Amino acid sequence: MRVLIVGGGAREHCIARKLKEDGAELYTSMNNLNPGLARLSTEVLRVSDTEISSIVEWSKNKDIKMAVIGPEAPLGKGIVDELVKVGIPSVGPSKTCARLETSKSFTRNLLEKYNIPGNPEFRVFTSPDGIREFLEQLGEYVIKDEGLAGGKGVKLSGEHLATVDEGVEFATSCIKKSGAVVVEEKFVGEEFSLQCITDGITVIGTPLAQDHKRAFEGDTGPNTGGMGSYSDSNQLLPFLTQADYDAAMDITRKVCKALHDECGQLYRGIMYGGFIATRKGVRLVEYNARFGDPEVMNVIPLLESSLLDIFKAVIEGNLEPGMARFSNKATVCKYVVPKGYGVKSEAGHPLHVNEKAIEEAGARLYYAAVDQRDGGLYTGTSRALGVVGIGDTISEAEQKAERALAHVKGHVFMRHDIGTAEAIEKKIERMKRIRA
Ligand code: GLY
Repeated sequence: MRVLIVGGGAREHCIARKLKEDGAELYTSMNNLNPGLARLSTEVLRVSDTEISSIVEWSKNKDIKMAVIGPEAPLGKGIVDELVKVGIPSVGPSKTCARLETSKSFTRNLLEKYNIPGNPEFRVFTSPDGIREFLEQLGEYVIKDEGLAGGKGVKLSGEHLATVDEGVEFATSCIKKSGAVVVEEKFVGEEFSLQCITDGITVIGTPLAQDHKRAFEGDTGPNTGGMGSYSDSNQLLPFLTQADYDAAMDITRKVCKALHDECGQLYRGIMYGGFIATRKGVRLVEYNARFGDPEVMNVIPLLESSLLDIFKAVIEGNLEPGMARFSNKATVCKYVVPKGYGVKSEAGHPLHVNEKAIEEAGARLYYAAVDQRDGGLYTGTSRALGVVGIGDTISEAEQKAERALAHVKGHVFMRHDIGTAEAIEKKIERMKRIRA
């Protein structure tokens, strides 16, 4: 079965590797020349992910049966709607349904309208009038740009915004850029990711994962796309309970149904919920309309079932609850990123990777924003590659990831604390205090 993959990052490399193992023949559209993806692909198109007409034109006469859209930007620009016009169904929502990620106000209003739990107190502003008063009323707050902002659209009081004046200024800049801003109550708790696969009716959950957004160890430094993530062998996280998982699943199932009622279309693809476990229970931070990056690397390598069959069921509308079986292993993913990443990346440096030694260390390697040229591998401005250790415990997986990292050399850095016993213990203790 011929499958089009859109996107050239580690997320897409991870999905592609599993689809290839399941028997798919891959056609991949990517901006950078990701060597891992290129090797798996029969043909490669080098364009930006949002050059939709080029991607559709290239794909349409290749007998491609299904597209898998990795990143959010082409979803937001309606790639799924354009591909369907040339007979290619997608794992990924239409532009209308992708508002789940591309419009922060859409999702908050959807939960409110359909009485779905998980929302904070919030208001949507299209002019600065009343923002100051609402920020003062909330005390601690979160300001979200209405549209996609490449990870830079969310700022929190006490972390990125020191004063109400700074809050008003940021909110006003969001309105200028995107026409609206969402201001909401700030939750206190531990965040986690639940990535679900749906055909618009049946929703299948995957193991929980936790990302690390800050660039430096100890969760310090600037925000990034995510420096690494881990999952546990019982598919929960060490500081969460089955009831937390069930609450997040319940919200996602209700949102999936509400999307159908609201949009008149089935949402086919990935619903990746960013949740937070708080003193009062599980709350929704945001939804994304695609797999998490890095979190996809915590779940797909554990999938014992065929991802190709699951994706076929997504596009055919016959997904069944038991279709995805995951092995009871823990995973730790660590991203290798160019020096300066998070502020100003020092890109274009050679990267030396011993692929064989990484696999021999019991880890997986997924390439991201690297470029293969002139017989070598060079870093770009974004995350370069992810290594994933897999073991019976988080500690074992973490040690495998660390052993693998020793085989990557270049002008790069990574977070060694992700998944360590010490870091996990801190999270458990913090969550105990929050729930006490
Ligand atoms: N883990 C962050 C993201 O995928 O957006």
